[in-house]
Parts: sequence; structure tokens; C-alpha cells
Amino acid sequence: MAEVVIVGSTDDAGELAADAIQSLVAAKADAVLGLATGSTPLTTWRALAARHLDLSRVRGFALDEYVGLPAAHPESYRSVIAREVVEPLGLTPALVRVPADRGPIETAGADYERAILAAGGIDLQILGIGRTGHIGFNEPGSSFASLTRVKTLTQQTRIDNARFFDSVEDVPMHCITQGLGTIMRARHLVLLAFGEEKADAVAGAVEGPVTSSVPGSAIQLHQKVTVIVDEAAAAMLRFADYYRYAWNNRLAWEKL
Ligand code: GLP
Repeated sequence: MAEVVIVGSTDDAGELAADAIQSLVAAKADAVLGLATGSTPLTTWRALAARHLDLSRVRGFALDEYVGLPAAHPESYRSVIAREVVEPLGLTPALVRVPADRGPIETAGADYERAILAAGGIDLQILGIGRTGHIGFNEPGSSFASLTRVKTLTQQTRIDNARFFDSVEDVPMHCITQGLGTIMRARHLVLLAFGEEKADAVAGAVEGPVTSSVPGSAIQLHQKVTVIVDEAAAAMLRFADYYRYAWNNRLAWEKL
């Protein structure tokens, strides 16, 4: 079962996720991180940046990317990862990849999978979750075995992401995303979610039936998952009291 931690604020969530990354990097200076975009991980990046760690050997693989945006577009995930993660954390740009950052789109998925394998796999994958229950850009119906590939975004996701663009028409219709199978191979998943608009997706992912209709529910099949949510995002969790109880009574040696 996922370890579910219900925190008082998004800043607290960022500190906890940063703790997990910090202890990983202390043990493995060239750790491989899976990097999520979106607004949710921002407090994690901020908390980590404030610790002024030497992260220059850390390697990174972004979860996903739009297809059809020029790489230099400010909202391409390549630009977002450079601006919000690589620069503030002091990562080495050449060690951080984004899907389809090299070569033709037709072979970009297989190329990305090869690169992840060659790096020894992802040690810790940071995840957000979309209102449709998507992780990465794996929309409902995505196979649990899927690997990095091109997908079509749902209209709901385009509407949700329109806030980063001038209008919903400007949000690309296609994307390339690590698959659920790719995500499941990461050694530790840290899923963050905040706000009441995520409560339904969180409950579905953590407690709902395991179904490709809620791609986030794949996490129930992973052996090491930490879900960090604020009270609003936790509002529909049936076992919230148990999660609080378990967290408050965790053993001293237990780490995230
Ligand atoms: C986007 C991203 C996801 C992200 C999700 C939630 O579509 N591709 O990786 O987790 O939406 O975004 P936010 O964190 O901004 O709510």
C-alpha cells in the first residue's frame, strides 16, 4: 500500500519530498530523478533549492513533453524543466533529458526508454496527478504496460493546462509521455497532490479499483510509493484517519 502523508500546507509537502530526494542523493550522488512539471512540484523544487545541495551529478528524465511546440517555447516542458528545475537546483543541463529532445518524434519513445535503461533506471520519480487521474500524460485508458510514446491529450487536460497559454486552442493536442510501465519501473514513486479539485483523482488512485480508467491507480501495484497530499486533496480518502495514525506512529528508522 502507498504510504499516504497528509500535510498541513503545500510548503510542508515540498519539504518532505525534498527530504526524500536529499537522502537519496546523499547515498548516491549521481542518482536518477524522474522530473514532473506542473504547479504541484514547485514547492519541492523551492525547498530543495533552499538547501544549496551539490546536485551537479544528479541525472534527470522529465516525465513528458508536448508535441508540436517549438523547443524554445516558454511552455515546452523542455523550457519549463530548464527554468524551474535545472537552473534553481544547479543540475547539469547535459544530464537532464526531456522526451523528444533529440532525433525524430517517430523514434523518440524508444530512444528515451533506452536512455533510461542505460542510466540504470529511475531511482525516484516525482509525480503530480491530473484531474482526469492521469500521471505524466497517461490519460484514462492507458495500458499499465505502456512505455514512452506519443499520445493525444483529452480536452479536459487541454482546458486544465490552458492557464499556461493564451487560450485552450494554443494547448497542443499531442504529447509524448513516459508510459505507466516506465513509471512503474522507477524504484520509488513520490506522488504529490494539492487542492480539492484533486480529491477525486487522489481517492481513485490510492483507494479506488486498480483500473486503466484511472491511470494513477497503477501506483497500487508498486512496492514503494509515497503520496503526499494536503487536507483538501485528502478529503475523499476513506482511510485518512488510518494514514494520519500510521504517520504519527511511524518508527524512528522509517524514512520516506
Ligand atoms: C499536467 C502534467 C502532469 C501533471 C498534471 C498536474 O498535465 N503533464 O505531469 O502532473 O498535469 O498538473 P498540476 O501539478 O499543475 O496540477
